[in-house]
Amino acid sequence: MSTNGGHNPHSVLRAERIGHSFGMNGSGHPVRALQDVTLDVRRGAFVALVGPSGCGKTTLLRLLAGLIRPTEGRALLDGTPITAPRRHIGVVFQQANLMPWRNVLDNITLPLELAGVPPDERRARAMPLIARIGLAGFAEAYPGELSGGMAQRVALARALISRPEVLLLDEPFAALDALTRERLIMDLLDVWKDTGQTILMVTHNINEAVLLADEVLVMSPRPGRIVARVPVTLPRPRALEMLYSPELGALAGQVRTAIESGSTPEQ
Ligand SMILES: Nc1ncnc2c1ncn2[C@@H]1O[C@H](COP(=O)(O)OP(=O)(O)O)[C@@H](O)[C@H]1O
Ligand SMILES: [Mg+2]
Repeated sequence: MSTNGGHNPHSVLRAERIGHSFGMNGSGHPVRALQDVTLDVRRGAFVALVGPSGCGKTTLLRLLAGLIRPTEGRALLDGTPITAPRRHIGVVFQQANLMPWRNVLDNITLPLELAGVPPDERRARAMPLIARIGLAGFAEAYPGELSGGMAQRVALARALISRPEVLLLDEPFAALDALTRERLIMDLLDVWKDTGQTILMVTHNINEAVLLADEVLVMSPRPGRIVARVPVTLPRPRALEMLYSPELGALAGQVRTAIESGSTPEQ
């Protein structure tokens, strides 16, 4: 196969016929989590991924993050196979996973510290980002003093501090109450507009997926496949009020129908 086989120059992140099974090498029954997943995320796009619980969304994100290797197919960043975590790929999971003994500043700058960036520069890069994500005044606070929403803001900043080209978000707002969640998604849209990053975000919330994304990818139940792609034709900038618009409702309806029609049981 040519290394550039099918490489779309506008695609920054690509999954190429990815399949993944767990437990292939051990005892017990292997679990086929993903099957033949191909997707392209265009540079600067915001793509949402939705699908029923257990369909392999987290597995796909971990593969694209280079945290695990696919059993079939490959993941590519700018046409180069992703075989290990990359500085150009930031990841935020549902749980913030902050280090309780490090304050906000030191949690956010951990990736820079590991990369050997000196303390002054770490601080100089973190302080504007801390303000940018709405945590001004909390640089010295400890995780135990933060609300769930604030902790997720710190996790987002920790992913952004390395200025990644691509941001992978795995249900980053799922544990938050509705109002906190709404504030965070609007702040995320602002950050995205400023940085021009490429975002792939998993969410359970269909309306949220439509409000945020340029395109919503729908996965089938396990083994996860992409069964529909719904382009989101809403204008930008997006506003929270759009959640209640008939246009968004119609698109969310298309996504919901695709999820339901993708629900053929596993053979
Ligand atoms: N480390 C693992 N070992 C074995 N099975 C796993 C592992 N991680 C996920 N799975 C299984 O793979 C399937 C997909 O899981 P996951 O990617 O977490 O789904 P989702 O994020 O869509 O809810 C599930 O059946 C899950 O139990
Ligand atoms: Mg998951």
